[in-house]
Amino acid sequence: KGDPRLEAISAAIRVVPNFPKKGIMFQDITTLLLDHKAFKHTIDIFVDRYKDMQISVVAGVEARGFLFGPSIALAIGAKFIPLRKPGKLPGKVISESYELEYGHDRLEMHVGAVEPRERVIIIDDLVATGGTLSAAMSLLESQGAEVVECACVIGLPEVKGQHKLKGKPLYVLVEPS
Ligand code: PRP
Repeated sequence: KGDPRLEAISAAIRVVPNFPKKGIMFQDITTLLLDHKAFKHTIDIFVDRYKDMQISVVAGVEARGFLFGPSIALAIGAKFIPLRKPGKLPGKVISESYELEYGHDRLEMHVGAVEPRERVIIIDDLVATGGTLSAAMSLLESQGAEVVECACVIGLPEVKGQHKLKGKPLYVLVEPS
């Protein structure tokens, strides 16, 4: 709060009403990516937060976590692990399903991508219910990694995610007004 960079980030996110269906106010981060200053602020804020926390892994959630995670990983000297939708990873995977509004989906991770006790942050563009991030956390924790924090550019105000994140900290930059 009070950081003008956050205002710039907020302003660069386009809100599209009724996408992908009626009643949803879609938070479109493609316009943030088009705004070099605001995009850089986004990466810088995460990098400043995580650079001295002995983080060796940044895990990003498909698809939009892939747009932010690698830049953060490179800047803090960590590796990047993509957490993917089912059937995309060629090696041996572990998978974790999570609830959607209708039905469920799964996230997968390569076995061996993370070592036991590695300190991890998980990145996505947006948290709503927290279901996706919880599945991501379960994948990493199942391999013995320590999830230090989950981080998102946008946190929806109806976030009941806190409960689902098993008490782990959630760091969000902006909340839609
Ligand atoms: C969106 C968003 C998060 C997730 C958040 O992804 O990018 O990953 O939903 O929702 P939750 O907190 O309620 O779990 P989406 O499911 O649209 O997938 P995509 O990024 O592959 O399009």
